[in-house]
Amino acid sequence: MYSVTIHAKMSKQLIMEVIVVLVTMLQFLPITVSSVDNYTRSDFPADFVFGAGTSAYQVEGATFEDGRSPSIWDTFVHEDRGLSKGATGDTACDAYHRYKEDVQHMVETGLEAYRFSISWSRLIPNGRGPVNPKGLEYYNNLINELIKHGIQPHITLCHIDNPQVLEDEYGGWLSQKIVRDFTAYADVCFKEFGDRVLHWTTLNEANIFAIGGYDNGYTPPGRCSPPFGMMCTQGNSTTEPYIAGHNLLLAHSSAVKLYYKKYKATQHGFVGINIYAPWFSPYTNSTEDIIATQRAIDFFIGWFLHPLVFGDYPDIIKKNGGKRIPALTPHQSKLVKGSFDFIGLNHYFTFYIKDNPSSLKMDIRDITADMAVILMSGPSDAPPDQNDVTSSSLYEILEYLKKVYANPPTYIHENGLRTKRNGTLYDTPRVKYLHAYIGTLLDALRNGSNTKGYFQWSFMDGFELLGGYQVAYGLYYVDLDDKLKRYPKFSAHWYSNFLKGRSIRPDEMIKLENETFYPSTFRASQ
Ligand SMILES: *[C@@H]1O[C@H](CO)[C@@H](O)[C@H](O)[C@H]1NC(C)=O
Ligand SMILES: *[C@@H]1O[C@H](CO)[C@@H](O)[C@H](O)[C@H]1NC(C)=O
Ligand SMILES: *[C@@H]1O[C@H](CO)[C@@H](O)[C@H](O)[C@H]1NC(C)=O
Ligand SMILES: *[C@@H]1O[C@H](CO)[C@@H](O)[C@H](O)[C@H]1NC(C)=O
Ligand SMILES: *[C@@H]1O[C@H](CO)[C@@H](O)[C@H](O)[C@H]1NC(C)=O
Ligand SMILES: *[C@@H]1O[C@H](CO)[C@@H](O)[C@H](O)[C@H]1NC(C)=O
Repeated sequence: MYSVTIHAKMSKQLIMEVIVVLVTMLQFLPITVSSVDNYTRSDFPADFVFGAGTSAYQVEGATFEDGRSPSIWDTFVHEDRGLSKGATGDTACDAYHRYKEDVQHMVETGLEAYRFSISWSRLIPNGRGPVNPKGLEYYNNLINELIKHGIQPHITLCHIDNPQVLEDEYGGWLSQKIVRDFTAYADVCFKEFGDRVLHWTTLNEANIFAIGGYDNGYTPPGRCSPPFGMMCTQGNSTTEPYIAGHNLLLAHSSAVKLYYKKYKATQHGFVGINIYAPWFSPYTNSTEDIIATQRAIDFFIGWFLHPLVFGDYPDIIKKNGGKRIPALTPHQSKLVKGSFDFIGLNHYFTFYIKDNPSSLKMDIRDITADMAVILMSGPSDAPPDQNDVTSSSLYEILEYLKKVYANPPTYIHENGLRTKRNGTLYDTPRVKYLHAYIGTLLDALRNGSNTKGYFQWSFMDGFELLGGYQVAYGLYYVDLDDKLKRYPKFSAHWYSNFLKGRSIRPDEMIKLENETFYPSTFRASQ
């Protein structure tokens, strides 16, 4: 996932630059509990699905094994760029070899579904052309193991990890050539796995992939240009995010079109796209901030959802970005419009939006400057140094999708709490966070949201994009110092209780916490 914190008073124009490194950011934060406090699994529809997620590069390891070629993420971390502190996913959780054990843990936890991604460069090492039999075998094994245990596979095709070889050949997502190669890759996945896989997500966080990869350079492929971003040797922050975003949309819709043409009738599956979807609230109640908040929503969310639902970019993006916004031709518009069965949201918190009109006076502008806002971590009336994490943010974004985008079928693909990795297994703050957000989701469902499923991020502590192995979101701790052993945290027990239909009210939780024992040999517990 992509997690950002903005410290009040620090930021000028360069939004995402102010960011990050939340290594010390332990989120023991106030959480506004939803109106539904006492709920169980049976309050949700039976066909609503609960799971947890990971992505290929973050857990698989075995990056040089069995014919896999590097992805842009391998390259990025091996150049020691970004915020993963020199760490790499070379070994990660070694899920490539331990998938059976991991599925066993999923069974123990009671997961109904598992969201994971396929490594394009493991399946098709040259980016296009021959399929790697070892890669095929691995994903078949994983899928079969899940199915055998009644766990639905929900697969993402590209989670920030397209093949480096295509990046070298034609600049990856900057070229429309990627549309053809991505579609051919999707074709292989649908053909090989689609008899057992019903839920496909083309791209993870398409919007943040374009911003992180091409505007501020904090994420692979790490491109940007002065005065925007940092650590980049190449790029053009003023144009490339929009170009990449455009090609991501085209590649997505091309894959959807292929699925409908070739596979839908026999496989009966669903194809969607995932975006990073925080909620946005005004920093103050001033009219300027309220208007600026709508702008932020249009730039972050509307950038992708507007074309997908209405066939064109939001007016404000076209106005402020001018000639830098690639036009959707009538043909492209038709292809993109309506090209989804569901929308996947990665939702973690709220940004507070402050108007920043001066950025529109800059001669050269990136997305952030075009947006003309400053992102803040809390409202102007919040106590200093206190991030405001309220689960109502999830309610707001779902209500917004209902109102503005005709209530599309939606999956919460990621939601979870970041903590220090080497903390304790008694991750009560994570339990409180999940309890609040899942209760809020129930509120939203009861008011008509068309949400179909919820995936906690992440199933286990993996390699995180922003923070490497210093930070963690997992239900399972993975001990890097002791053969990558997996240990369920308190949150795994809590989620398991919930999934098995038991009461998960906060007072019950404390009792459960007291009753939860861990091996005395476990070294990281305190
Ligand atoms: C919580 O809900 C359960 C099932 O609906 C009910 O039996 C129980 O009394 C409720 N507890 C409280 C404290 O509301
Ligand atoms: C970015 O692209 C625009 C449009 O092609 C061009 O005018 C500008 O000089 C480029 N900037 C950089 C830093 O290359
Ligand atoms: C905005 O107004 C509401 C209602 O008057 C108030 O509760 C809230 O604290 C205000 N928000 C800010 C950020 O000032
Ligand atoms: C976790 O703690 C162990 C033991 O204190 C230490 O050796 C290891 O470097 C720590 N790992 C991380 C990722 O901080
Ligand atoms: C519930 O949904 C209705 C219809 O979409 C909407 O008008 C109303 O504002 C929502 N209620 C709340 C509390 O958000
Ligand atoms: C949990 O354990 C703590 C300390 O051992 C104790 O003070 C507390 O009363 C216990 N709470 C419950 C609900 O059992």
